[in-house]
Amino acid sequence: MKERIHALLGWLLVGLAVVGVIGWLQATPGSAQPIAFDHQKHVEGAGLECTLCHPGAREGRRAGIVAAGECMGCHADAAAESPEVKKLKAFADRGQQIPWVQVYKAPPDDSNMFFRPNAVRINFSHQRHVEAGAVDCAACHGAVGHRSKPVTSPELPIRMRRCLECHRARKITTDCLACHR
Ligand code: HEC
Ligand code: HEC
Ligand code: HEC
Ligand code: HEC
Ligand code: HEC
Repeated sequence: MKERIHALLGWLLVGLAVVGVIGWLQATPGSAQPIAFDHQKHVEGAGLECTLCHPGAREGRRAGIVAAGECMGCHADAAAESPEVKKLKAFADRGQQIPWVQVYKAPPDDSNMFFRPNAVRINFSHQRHVEAGAVDCAACHGAVGHRSKPVTSPELPIRMRRCLECHRARKITTDCLACHR
């Protein structure tokens, strides 16, 4: 009996250690992006609109990122010799999704649901802000168009205080249930 309890406790410790390591890995910020994407070259350099590559921002809840095939519309020619564009082409040729790491994420953060099962849920729609509200992307994401390095951490972290400041200033609802449901 005593041995069985010891064995059980042993496994419990192993389990806790595994859970701890997974949690630590998931909590490590600044995850690299699969391709060294440069916003500055596209936005300030080539004069592209944000919603050319993030079309969902006008149409729905998620902004999204266009598929590799869409990028190849330009990159069959543009900078075709760049090693980063070759990576892009390899994804497109395989018809594969580019595994971009999502940086701006409203709760619940699915990767942490295991640790925070009661995390708040946020009701957020890009379309509502970008189209209906005519809010500029920079109000929530900072000057992305200046960045020459990939986005690996939020310039303006998502905070309730920030949502509320703008809603108060513009006389938009501050009812808890508008954002939490
Ligand atoms: C409308 C045309 C256009 C589209 C669409 C486009 N790009 Fe580009 N891209 C460019 C131009 C122009 C450059 C700058 C080339 C230069 O500086 O020589 C560039 C540069 C790049 C570079 C840097 C190349 C280097 O090493 O300097 C990468 C990587 C890249 N684009 C990836 C992407 C990805 C990923 C997408 C899709 C999400 C995309 N591009 C969509 C036109 C485009
Ligand atoms: C040519 C395509 C292209 C254009 C134009 C573009 N983006 Fe992006 N955007 C990307 C790609 C690819 C990523 C993922 C790589 C990275 O993080 O840099 C990205 C990432 C982002 C992210 C981080 C997304 C996340 O996962 O949290 C934000 C925010 C963003 N873009 C905003 C903008 C804004 C604002 C503009 C206009 C000023 C813009 N983008 C213009 C292709 C584009
Ligand atoms: C009022 C604030 C606000 C504005 C304006 C805004 N965003 Fe976002 N954005 C957010 C929030 C909040 C998230 C996280 C949403 C989530 O987790 O579902 C996000 C996530 C994203 C993401 C990654 C997840 C996704 O939805 O694909 C991209 C890319 C993005 N935004 C691009 C843009 C672009 C481009 C614009 C302008 C056309 C824009 N955003 C305007 C607040 C904003
Ligand atoms: C820079 C200003 C600004 C910021 C920041 C902002 N909002 Fe908004 N929000 C607006 C505007 C403007 C509208 C009204 C759009 C319309 O006319 O439909 C709106 C509308 C909404 C609505 C719909 C309200 C209703 O009456 O049904 C929700 C929900 C919402 N926002 C959630 C959020 C959340 C969550 C955040 C933070 C992550 C946020 N907003 C940040 C400006 C902002
Ligand atoms: C305009 C949108 C908006 C409104 C209105 C709003 N919240 Fe939030 N709330 C958020 C966002 C976004 C987050 C997640 C980011 C953060 O934790 O700051 C959040 C987070 C929270 C959290 C979790 C904080 C944490 O650390 O986990 C609580 C609790 C909360 N809100 C309660 C409320 C209550 C109560 C009200 C009404 C008095 C309210 N919220 C109104 C957007 C809103």
